[in-house]
Amino acid sequence: MYSKEIIERFKNPRNAGGLRGANGVGKVGNAACGDIMKVYLLVDDNGIIKDARFKTFGCCAAIASTDVACDLIKGKTLDEALKVTNKQVYDILGEMPPHKIHCSVLAEESIHAAVEDYYKRKDKANKKSAKSDDDED
Ligand code: FES
Repeated sequence: MYSKEIIERFKNPRNAGGLRGANGVGKVGNAACGDIMKVYLLVDDNGIIKDARFKTFGCCAAIASTDVACDLIKGKTLDEALKVTNKQVYDILGEMPPHKIHCSVLAEESIHAAVEDYYKRKDKANKKSAKSDDDED
């Protein structure tokens, strides 16, 4: 069965929704169950995650897992966010049916995808900026 924390997070997620100005967005899914998670990051110039939000189409444990994952990465550096594990998510959520543990794994993967997207966008912006500098020469 589900823990109180999972039920509470499912009913009243703290971080649900999109994020205006997000500069890192990660989308992952599980083909077996069909659940999809999308995590939005707002990262400042110092590489600190100022805010994190999510939209999850999925089960109760998937929604609760993404909600916890967002709490765990807020205020952290990108490197610290990459170290957040599904075990940490699981430990906060408490009792979860064994066949639902993959929901917490998906939450970890969604963070990684969002951080990766942030770096890709930054890299692209840097290349564009370097190209426009070359054009001015
Ligand atoms: Fe697949 Fe929850 S059942 S993510």
